Amino acid sequence: MGYNVAIDGPAGAGKSTIAKLVAKEKGYIYVDTGAMYRGLAIHFLKKGVDPEDKNAVAEACKDAEVTIGYENGVQQIYLNGENVTGMLRTEEVGNMASKTSAIPEVREKLLDLQRSLAEEKDVIMDGRDIGTNILPDADVKIYLTASVETRAKRRYDELKEKGVDCSMEEISKDIRERDERDMTREIAPLRKAEDAVLVDSSDMTIPEVVDEICSHCR
Ligand code: DC
Repeated sequence: MGYNVAIDGPAGAGKSTIAKLVAKEKGYIYVDTGAMYRGLAIHFLKKGVDPEDKNAVAEACKDAEVTIGYENGVQQIYLNGENVTGMLRTEEVGNMASKTSAIPEVREKLLDLQRSLAEEKDVIMDGRDIGTNILPDADVKIYLTASVETRAKRRYDELKEKGVDCSMEEISKDIRERDERDMTREIAPLRKAEDAVLVDSSDMTIPEVVDEICSHCR
């Protein structure tokens, strides 16, 4: 069994930035489970599947295979053998992933992949239900959050830097909607595991958050 660190929290809390740095510091493998849901979302978008049509999504799962690999230590996502890593981080893909991740067949599809990675290796795995559902016996559980305002501002700055035209209002609205969906869905909703350490990064720098999390890890 590998040493397992679970890190859950809402969209834009900085999970991936922080988890990558903790992984580097501690020598763990970083596993981004949101990217797996995004990989499947690309499949649904390519097929033109309506995310509200649960049966169509479940059916479309049957001819999708999501696998994971590492290139120079960076996680790559393959959809039916094609490397789709460069296509994952758009709002369209994120929203499709958020909507379809509420459907049991979608979660079922990725469960074994996530658990088997944690079984074999020392991992820090980020997502929404890692501490509560995927790895209930994880050695360390972190619930990383920040206020909606902070998360929206971080996302706004990131998009501006990439030269993407966007408005604060729209980003805040998107974040609130995503929180609502991820936290209220019936299956594996986002919530803090009882034994998770709560870290609110609203007023913390990145190194402070990394230090705080590292202090709980082996
Ligand atoms: O972390 P992210 O924004 O890349 O995740 C995209 C969506 O995938 C998120 O809105 C909800 C879903 N997701 C999930 O349901 N369970 C996970 N463990 C990770 C992501």
